Order: sequence, then C-alpha cells, then structure tokens
Amino acid sequence: MNEQMKTRLKRTLTLSAIALAIGAAIGFAQIGNSRNAVVVNKGSTPEAAVAGVQVGGPFTLTDQNGNIVTEKSYGGQYRLVYFGFTMCPVICPAGLQKLSKAMELLGANAAAIQPIFITVDPERDTPDAMRQYVQQFHPRLVGLTGTKADIESVEKSYRVFSSKVEDENLSDYTMDHSAFTYLMSPDNQLLSLYRDSDTAETMAEDIKNKIEFGETD
Ligand code: NI
Repeated sequence: MNEQMKTRLKRTLTLSAIALAIGAAIGFAQIGNSRNAVVVNKGSTPEAAVAGVQVGGPFTLTDQNGNIVTEKSYGGQYRLVYFGFTMCPVICPAGLQKLSKAMELLGANAAAIQPIFITVDPERDTPDAMRQYVQQFHPRLVGLTGTKADIESVEKSYRVFSSKVEDENLSDYTMDHSAFTYLMSPDNQLLSLYRDSDTAETMAEDIKNKIEFGETD
C-alpha cells in the first residue's frame, strides 16, 4: 500500500468513527429529550442517519462585533467550532474553558486556529451578548449568531441537536444541546470531533498531529 492509499484509508476509518460517534450522540439526545416530544424516526438507525453525510458547510452569520461572516471569513486557518448558548449554566462554560486551555497548550500552533462559538439560542444571544460572553474565555474566540433560520441551517450542516426546554421552576427557558467540538480544516472539512469527555490535553495533542501532518485535503 503506498502512502497516499494509507492516508486515504486512515481518513476513511476516522470519518467512519466520527459518523458513529455523531450517530450515537444524536440517538442519545433524542432519547434523553423524549419528554419534549422530539420526533424520533424509529425506522432508521442513528448510523444510517449520518452515513455518508458531509459535516459542516456554507453559512452566513453575524459575529460579536456585528460583522457579517461566512465559512470563508477565516481563510487559511483551522477552526475549532463549538455550539452552545450564553445562558448555559454548566456545559458550555466548561466546554469553552477546555477549548481555551487546548489553545494555550498548543503554544505557537494556536495561531493557525480560529476558535468559534456558535449560538443555538439566537433569540437571546445578540451580538452584544455574544461579545460580553466570548471575551471571558479566550481573546481570539469569535461568537456567531444570526436569524433563527440561519442558526437552524448551520446546526443542520454540523449535525447539531438543540431544543428549547420550558421549565415551570425556571423564570426563563433553557436549551438542550449536543456538545461536540469540531476541528475543521482551512477548506472546511471535518478533521476531528471531540466529545464532552475528551480532555484539553487530548484535543491539543490531536490538533498538533493534524496540523503537523497537514491533513487539509
Ligand atoms: Ni451548553
């Protein structure tokens, strides 16, 4: 087997594992959220739902400074993409702290990466709210919001699950959402998917390998 074939095989296996992970997560999210009557298609397995599906894609959103941005706005840079919402009590702050720590661990390599936080709660996460929030985590963290339709579209392309949850014990609603971190190449291909349980060290090591080996095609 020549080097090119080895690389392709490795890539295929990695993407299969990613598809399974996303499939399992979507299945879990749907089960976990069944009290909110999310429609579950019992006829298809989670794996079938994502098999051969591209992750990530074009988007048009608004950043924390009110600028319109697209998937082409961070040309030449890898992206670490995380979805969540600013009023999230625990999961998002922990996820963004971990992302920030991974950036620190990367040292000089971090310059090649654009960290991006995309809201699943555009109703409350205005550019102003995003600006105040992202600066708490990393000086280069970008916060993206948009119309409900814009956000639905980007969530769909990244296979993100989110759902509004009304709780009579709370004065306001909260959001259930999947919490993966996506490592995307400069040309918007998914390179790695990190779970909630992956550490900053694991993420930094994997990112370092991906960048050093130049897996960008
Ligand atoms: Ni959250």
